[in-house]
Amino acid sequence: MPRLVIISNRLPISIQKKPGGSIEYQRSAGGLATGLGSFYKNYESLWIGWPGIVREGLKLEETKLVKDSLKEEKCYPVFMGRRDIDWYYNGFCNRTIWPLFHYFPTYVKYDNEYWETYKKVNKIFFDTVADILQPDDLVWIHDYQLMLLPNLIREMYPEIVIGFFLHIPFPSYELFRLLPWRNEILMGFLGSNLIGFHTYDYARHFQSSVRQLLGLDSLLGQINVNGRIVKVDAFPMGIDYHFYSQASKNKEIINESDKLKEKFGNRKIVISVDRLDYTKGIIKRLKAIDLFLEKNPEYEKKFTLVLVVVPSRIGTKNYFLLKKQIDEMVGYINGKYGSIDWIPIWYLYRQLPLMNLTALYNIADVALVTPLRDGMNLVAKEYLATKAERKGVLILSEMAGAARELGEAIIVNPNDVEAIVEAIKKAFLLSAEEQVEMNRTMNHRLSRYTIEKWAKEFLDNLIKARDTQLEYS
Ligand code: UDP
Ligand code: G6P
Repeated sequence: MPRLVIISNRLPISIQKKPGGSIEYQRSAGGLATGLGSFYKNYESLWIGWPGIVREGLKLEETKLVKDSLKEEKCYPVFMGRRDIDWYYNGFCNRTIWPLFHYFPTYVKYDNEYWETYKKVNKIFFDTVADILQPDDLVWIHDYQLMLLPNLIREMYPEIVIGFFLHIPFPSYELFRLLPWRNEILMGFLGSNLIGFHTYDYARHFQSSVRQLLGLDSLLGQINVNGRIVKVDAFPMGIDYHFYSQASKNKEIINESDKLKEKFGNRKIVISVDRLDYTKGIIKRLKAIDLFLEKNPEYEKKFTLVLVVVPSRIGTKNYFLLKKQIDEMVGYINGKYGSIDWIPIWYLYRQLPLMNLTALYNIADVALVTPLRDGMNLVAKEYLATKAERKGVLILSEMAGAARELGEAIIVNPNDVEAIVEAIKKAFLLSAEEQVEMNRTMNHRLSRYTIEKWAKEFLDNLIKARDTQLEYS
């Protein structure tokens, strides 16, 4: 297997400067980092990306220190200045592409400065990659922050093998066409040999945009770009199944679970775990909890909602406003229904360490996963994996990529608050046998398409795409 060069905006390790000046290394949040981070060291590989801090935040000697420590983890940092982070990361990535690709067109800001900075930063990534790249490497670029990078590399290295994976939805043509820079972005993607999406729908939307905007037809998932073959396919990302399915047998997790159980007594535990993001449907979910308690007062004191919100992109206005809204709603619901011996919502605004999060999955009776749009949603899969041969109910939004594989869960339209209320009631009333049966079927699927399998299948297909190209030319 050739060396694998992974490139993503965010490295699997993020650094933070503490108020006293010390530097802290933390596991990065989000599906891309946690998913890939769990297996990339098994390959002969390295990872290029942003360590989550602005260049101005570090002194020269600290930058060197950070570089050395990251290198031990096979990570190579790309540093960016404050202005680039503002206009590229907060700007084009998270105020233009993210809302548009998640079907929030009214949140989108079309700004030429953002676009110019996006191009500039993709070029900065290219320069770092070019310093490290060897002709036999397999290049695997990830996500919407680096959509121009495949073609930047292709122009300089016509023969190199490049794979690209989009971790968020690719929207329908009617939305994608709204982008003023749509053709350049498609051309950026098409520098790859293989382009992967989580679902067939996203792959179909991409091919439809390529056809309508660039006039390039695709035949059986292959696009001919001036004599170069680009393959397009769906690869639904999996999880580290072994780890989660063994959770109920892991000593550390059992200890943590026991402590939690003691806190909650025999109340049912409902969990909600997301990054702070308006795409995750947290407000509608809280409205459903309010309505559930209003309609079903007999359930007062019978359950606790553990609401985990992981801080994310707080430098962007919509995220900052969402945080305020969640704080207010939680306060309102706890004030309305709470009593001396019961708080309906146990609210944690922080990232949980893996063991604590897994213990929470382990003890939860119900997981409420109701994003308004989500490329995949790994939380849904991780929760279920802790329930192999066990009770536990997943309520899942039909707008999450994961719903394509988890059809036995209670599927809801996340905009339909009444439907979420009914789903919660149904989850509480499902018999243990019914729960175990649903989970068995879904676990069977999850165990067969793990994160390792996902990566292997993508990379095998990437090598096949290279061979097809060699035969063709
Ligand atoms: N996660 C975590 N700590 C937390 C909450 C979440 O490590 O406190 C992880 C979780 O295990 C999952 C990822 O963050 O792997 C979230 O991925 P998902 O696909 O659900 O959503 P994304 O954040 O990528 O939109
Ligand atoms: C989603 C995106 C990732 C991103 C993650 C966390 O999973 O697909 O590319 O890394 O969210 O977001 P952040 O902006 O903190 O990197």
